[in-house]
Amino acid sequence: MKSTAGWLKLRAGPLFAGKTVGFVPTMGALHEGHLSLLRRARRENELTAASIFVNPAQFNDPRDLERYPRTLAGDIEKLEKAKTDFLLLPRAREMYPDGYRYRLNETVESGALCGAHRPGHFEGVLTVVLKLLNLVRADRAYFGEKDFQQYHLIKEMAEAFFTGTKIVPCPTLREADGLAMSSRNLLLEPEHRELAPALYKALRSSVRPAEIKKRLVALGFQPDYVEERWGRRFVAAKLGNVRLIDNVKL
Ligand code: PAF
Repeated sequence: MKSTAGWLKLRAGPLFAGKTVGFVPTMGALHEGHLSLLRRARRENELTAASIFVNPAQFNDPRDLERYPRTLAGDIEKLEKAKTDFLLLPRAREMYPDGYRYRLNETVESGALCGAHRPGHFEGVLTVVLKLLNLVRADRAYFGEKDFQQYHLIKEMAEAFFTGTKIVPCPTLREADGLAMSSRNLLLEPEHRELAPALYKALRSSVRPAEIKKRLVALGFQPDYVEERWGRRFVAAKLGNVRLIDNVKL
């Protein structure tokens, strides 16, 4: 494995060399959902690149940043197994040489849903993703639909700033019990892990969002919102310290 200015070269070959590149940005703690994005990137491009960067700018709660799972050695093994060609593994001072003085602010839709409950979150996401897209200059970048609001904002940001990278949405992968795959699932206490699939079940029920919210409270969740927009129903709810999000098409 060779290192080239922040890049870990996982496989042989010159850096990109005019070939099409599919990019999967991540914050690590890789699971089958990430691997499905990498498989798709591999099918649709000649080379694949991933990044692992736990982006401090998108965490509105410092305890959440501290607790975020970090499993780098295992992640690199998974990337090698998935035949990923390049891994970008930057440090915070490399991503933010300006000390985060320059930020990307979307003014209409980033205040809704998760944006209403996590101040500054999407500013951090959009800023880091624009930087990553500028560094990698991939043909396509792949994002999971579990974070649908994130995907939606990134897609329109990539177009608004002429990045030249096509943003590709990929379906949410679920555990056998229906829980949407997420790095944060690793942080769930065993009793909360057992309860967590009820979120997806509640989301799919035929009752109104307000009723779903009541049901979630009765089950022991602390819901931030259950809301419908863009032809989808969205939920965010906490179990203990862990905030879970999910959405379904209506
Ligand atoms: O979805 C994530 O893992 C992160 O928000 C992303 C897109 C890698 C930006 O830090």
